Amino acid sequence: MINKLLNYTSEKPEVYTASTSKFWDDEHISKGMLEAHLNPEWDAATRNHNFVTKSVEWIASIASPVTYPELLDLGCGPGIYAEKFYISGYHVTGMDYSKRSIEYAIDSAKNNNMPIEYIYQNYLDIMYQEKFDVITLIYCDFGVMSNQDRNTLLKRIYQALKPGGIFILDVFTPNQYKGREESKDWYYSESGFWSEKPHICLNSFYRYDDSNTILDQTVVITEDSIEYYNIWDHTFIKEELEEELQKAGFTSLDFYGDVAGDEYKADGNLMCAVAKKKGREVE
Ligand SMILES: C[S@@+](CC[C@H](N)C(=O)[O-])C[C@H]1O[C@@H](n2cnc3c(N)ncnc32)[C@H](O)[C@@H]1O
Repeated sequence: MINKLLNYTSEKPEVYTASTSKFWDDEHISKGMLEAHLNPEWDAATRNHNFVTKSVEWIASIASPVTYPELLDLGCGPGIYAEKFYISGYHVTGMDYSKRSIEYAIDSAKNNNMPIEYIYQNYLDIMYQEKFDVITLIYCDFGVMSNQDRNTLLKRIYQALKPGGIFILDVFTPNQYKGREESKDWYYSESGFWSEKPHICLNSFYRYDDSNTILDQTVVITEDSIEYYNIWDHTFIKEELEEELQKAGFTSLDFYGDVAGDEYKADGNLMCAVAKKKGREVE
């Protein structure tokens, strides 16, 4: 065990080194994440629910459910956005690979009498052909993926959209981590977010400035295990996001300051892109 610890902690990890265990779909961690999604005040796993309402209203204003009825929400979590999309008039499919979140979403839709389709699946594996009018990927999940996974996903999203369909995503810009220095710290907990057993957490924050990427790493050490959770974030300047979207085939791109339609600012921490597939004029 000590070798595993030394191997991983002695050197700065290679960019996009994977975690050694599941994060969103972990039996214990997913409990804390579900709690974070459901807290209406927190900007944690889902943004605060007032923002979500504003965000859904804005999306419905730029991609009306009358013209763009079929919506796929990638990384839908427990369905906070999905239910609001349904109420706005969309026919909604939600996809997520957290079993706990999808089970919660299915129960909630049933209790609220909302015929939303939920799918427990890794969205990197989607293989739809021209099925959706709108696809959303909200709360900066795009930057968490490696360059290769982002490119694969963009191509699949493009295929999954009908002609004239719209893809909406948000990402952090390098300003999000401006001035934050590399750091390491640790703590002991009897039971907490990372494990229900007594554990030590070693936290590291690494910068990879030549590729606008950061790593938030947590090493969780219990009596009988060591797991490494590597949360990567590739941040974007507008030109780079533009290039990735264009490479996947998107022709018309609009940029905003957030996923509720705020104005794009070059010095903002966040950016939202609305990418349209060729083929149908927008009303
Ligand atoms: C930061 S949360 C955002 C949730 C939701 N979009 C929102 O804003 O309320 C990320 C969600 O994406 C899911 N997720 C991350 N990567 C995924 C993947 N490759 N396939 C499916 N779901 C994924 C996680 O399980 C989690 O529910």
